Amino acid sequence: MYKQNPDLMAFSRRTLLGAAAATPLLAGEASASSGRLFRESLDFALKRLRQVAPNVTSFPEETKFEKWIYVSSGGWVGGFWPGMHWLAYLDSGDEQFKTWAVESALRLSPRRTDTSIHDLGFLFYPSWVTAFRLTGDVSWRDGAVQAASSLIQRYNDKGRFIRAWGALGTPANAGRAIMDTMMNLDLLTFASEQTGDPRFLDVAVAHALTTRSKFIRPDGSTPHVFDFNPDTGEDIGPNTNQGYSPTSCWSRGQAWGIYGFTTMYRRTRRPEFLDAARKLADFALDALTPDHIPVWDYRSPLAPNDVKDSSAGAIMACGLIDLSRASGRASYYVAALRILEALCRTCLTTRSERHEAILARGTRNRRIETGIEVSLPYGDYYLMEALLRVLKPQRISRAIGL
Ligand code: GLY
Repeated sequence: MYKQNPDLMAFSRRTLLGAAAATPLLAGEASASSGRLFRESLDFALKRLRQVAPNVTSFPEETKFEKWIYVSSGGWVGGFWPGMHWLAYLDSGDEQFKTWAVESALRLSPRRTDTSIHDLGFLFYPSWVTAFRLTGDVSWRDGAVQAASSLIQRYNDKGRFIRAWGALGTPANAGRAIMDTMMNLDLLTFASEQTGDPRFLDVAVAHALTTRSKFIRPDGSTPHVFDFNPDTGEDIGPNTNQGYSPTSCWSRGQAWGIYGFTTMYRRTRRPEFLDAARKLADFALDALTPDHIPVWDYRSPLAPNDVKDSSAGAIMACGLIDLSRASGRASYYVAALRILEALCRTCLTTRSERHEAILARGTRNRRIETGIEVSLPYGDYYLMEALLRVLKPQRISRAIGL
């Protein structure tokens, strides 16, 4: 059955080519058995969604003792639940997933005009942009463009960055830029592409250039936060919110950067974004332990023997697959397969009947001691995205515009 699937044949060819070019380790190992493991893992994800979705009327935020707890507004995570259902629909063609995706995405509608946070890409890209790409219904596109219009209001022209936190007009966090914002920029490139208005893309490029010049240390590691004087745009310096310290390297932030810079390279072809993505990827890959699951902060004093963050692994796997194509380097693809295989072998919730999520061993915020060894909707979403990037690259391209 696998042999008749053109997407999976592409996977096998690429895997073997990648393995041959990069390292003998995966030759023969990654093709058939990993293909089966990945297919079974995605089947499991769809089965879990089918079990849980009928009882979900809000947005999963994290698990507590294997059950989702919810954030009714969507918080910053509200795009991932509809996003997972779009991916399940893409994989299976089952209209029930489409119905759940639409119902859930529509609940985000009031957030289109929310100018109080930077997370509008996280909210509207996997949900509304994907909805537009898969259905062609322009109301999804128009809503996503509205969200992009809200996001660019947070741009600080003096420091050339998008402010991460705090309501506009309030002083707290007015000069804060964070690595995560790299993931919100593709909403802006989408808005420029759809409207022909260059302002969205200009803000995205300016923010990415600032992130590149202020965040990336010579060794390729990054802090979570960089602070500016919001009035003059002058540097204050690196800081952290979710990492161990201003000099550490929070693994999920690093993963957001790998994914985000690669996306910006794909959209603009600016070589400095490819260079940035490679620096971040090379640092993170060097820091990975033989189990291939990122520790929550690569520089916590207990690293590498500290708590893990599987969500960082899933995000990084997606970014590395994209980076492999962008850079022409098969070794990134091979590294992504290793991470994905480790996630599927050691982090799935398959053996628990009562679990409501797909991927275990996530860490939400170790620094303030909340959400350790939990499941996270972004862990589940990016695991599914990574599996589809390997198993069905042509289909996932339709959803996320690769
Ligand atoms: N964007 C927030 C986080 O990654 O936890």
